[in-house]
Amino acid sequence: MQTKTPKESLTIQTHLVMPNDANQMNNLFGGQLMAWMDEVASITAFRHCGNVAVTASINNISFTQPIPLGSYVILEAKVSRAFSTSMEIFIDVHVETRNGVKTKCNEAIFLFVGMSDDGKPIKVPGIVPETEVEIKRFEGALRRKQLSLILGGRMDPNEAGELKKLFTDINVKK
Ligand SMILES: CC(C)(COP(=O)(O)OP(=O)(O)OC[C@H]1O[C@@H](n2cnc3c(N)ncnc32)[C@H](O)[C@@H]1OP(=O)(O)O)[C@@H](O)C(=O)NCCC(=O)NCCS
Repeated sequence: MQTKTPKESLTIQTHLVMPNDANQMNNLFGGQLMAWMDEVASITAFRHCGNVAVTASINNISFTQPIPLGSYVILEAKVSRAFSTSMEIFIDVHVETRNGVKTKCNEAIFLFVGMSDDGKPIKVPGIVPETEVEIKRFEGALRRKQLSLILGGRMDPNEAGELKKLFTDINVKK
């Protein structure tokens, strides 16, 4: 099967935070941002595998900065790693202020599975990371997948070799 690069799946969406998107603090409601993230990740996965893909797990969301009502929010998503039928997708969220200045405020990692027309997981193309950030994200993806499988009750922690290595490496550095 052919391989692809992360930039081939790049998907960018810009939203204006309207009053019905806000919480009681007049900031963007987290659930609304999660819906936008899921949508942008779904399109990203489709661009990588060429088929419909479904959300299998959300491996991390960090709401580092509140996003005020009236903000222009940019979600930028790329596939960071492809496994057999699943794809990890990184979403970087920025707020754009005057003069095109962008400030990063949130980040998320979703895992999608490519699906056949009759609803079965299908093989997806591999991925070749190009930039420094893409390589770093690619390298960390297997341990994040193993952690997600353990938390989802789909993997025995004793079989999570890549994840265990992380703790072994930390101990070695100490
Ligand atoms: C996700 C789904 C397709 C997996 O189906 P399945 O029959 O369990 O298929 P498999 O066991 O072959 O898993 C498919 C892939 O998903 C991965 N996967 C499934 N659940 C996972 C989890 N919690 N964390 C990480 N990876 C997961 C598997 O490791 C496998 O990846 P790989 O082939 O790249 O190694 C199925 O559970 C499903 O349809 N879920 C609902 C999806 C949905 O509707 N999402 C919208 C939100 S409601």
